[in-house]
Amino acid sequence: MASSVLKVSNLTKRIKKTQIIHDVSFDIKEGEILGFLGPNGSGKTTTLRMVVGLIRPTSGDIQICGHALKEEYINAMSNVGCIIEGPDLYGYMSGYKNLELLGSMSKDVTKKDIDEAVSLVGMENRIHDKVDVYSMGMKQRIGLAQALIHKPRLLILDEPTNGLDPQGIHEFREIVKKLAEEKGISVLISSHLISEVQLMCDRVSIINKGRIIKNASIEDMLSTGEVIWTLDDPGKGQRILEETFEITSTIDQRGLSANLDISRLPDINKAFFDAGLRISLVDNKKQTLEDLFLSLTHEEKI
Ligand SMILES: Nc1ncnc2c1ncn2[C@@H]1O[C@H](COP(=O)(O)OP(=O)(O)O)[C@@H](O)[C@H]1O
Ligand SMILES: [Mg+2]
Repeated sequence: MASSVLKVSNLTKRIKKTQIIHDVSFDIKEGEILGFLGPNGSGKTTTLRMVVGLIRPTSGDIQICGHALKEEYINAMSNVGCIIEGPDLYGYMSGYKNLELLGSMSKDVTKKDIDEAVSLVGMENRIHDKVDVYSMGMKQRIGLAQALIHKPRLLILDEPTNGLDPQGIHEFREIVKKLAEEKGISVLISSHLISEVQLMCDRVSIINKGRIIKNASIEDMLSTGEVIWTLDDPGKGQRILEETFEITSTIDQRGLSANLDISRLPDINKAFFDAGLRISLVDNKKQTLEDLFLSLTHEEKI
């Protein structure tokens, strides 16, 4: 099993008397894209700022590629590229000059590293134009190239597609997926957009009011749903679900219904058939990430 590239354990942050982050834990393996999903004000930026050492946690532990951020800051951070407050670019210089300037600040970045970063973000054709004439999406891709020039194993991106148009969002998403797939780079990407996380990420950590309320793979989360059977004897179907599959169900005017892992459906249908039940209709509604997110972050109306 791949080891963790990032491991965050029991992180908390108190600012003055207010606790903003409560006991946040998650980890990311090599080549994995983790979506950090939460509504505005839920604590995403505060958490990411702690992970890259911009602010100090009140308590908890952060390990990057096996190095504790607290004790081995330089070793830990040498593995990280990030865009936290939007890219920092000089508008009057070209994209290339911006990258050269950043590269010149660390001794081991070569021209080849810069060219490779430019090609990874697909900016070869416009790289010598002034940043001032770039679209938002192009600026964000240069920001990504900046994060990539020292060949990080972990990318940390705080709502990187905010303010991009649909085309820019699509391009950015495809680049990030390619970096994970082809370069094995791990990515921690925050977002308040459910669809974005669903389209880009392997796993999701959902944060609300400073607490992680769910850590799961997108695949597992989307494989459950509600199934409704129309049967000649729903009571008998209910007993089979209970006794053979340990699934609780309800009977109402729609028929026999239950929430379950959809992959169990063929076995259940076969058991119904073998027991002599006549199935006239099976209907299933897959849960979307949106259903789950809304049910988890749902607040009592006052
Ligand atoms: N320096 C600060 N002082 C006081 N409160 C803060 C500070 N930074 C963030 N907060 C509060 O912490 C909460 C989480 O903020 P933030 O991490 O920016 O959320 P997100 O990035 O998910 O929108 C918000 O309620 C915000 O007002
Ligand atoms: Mg934020």
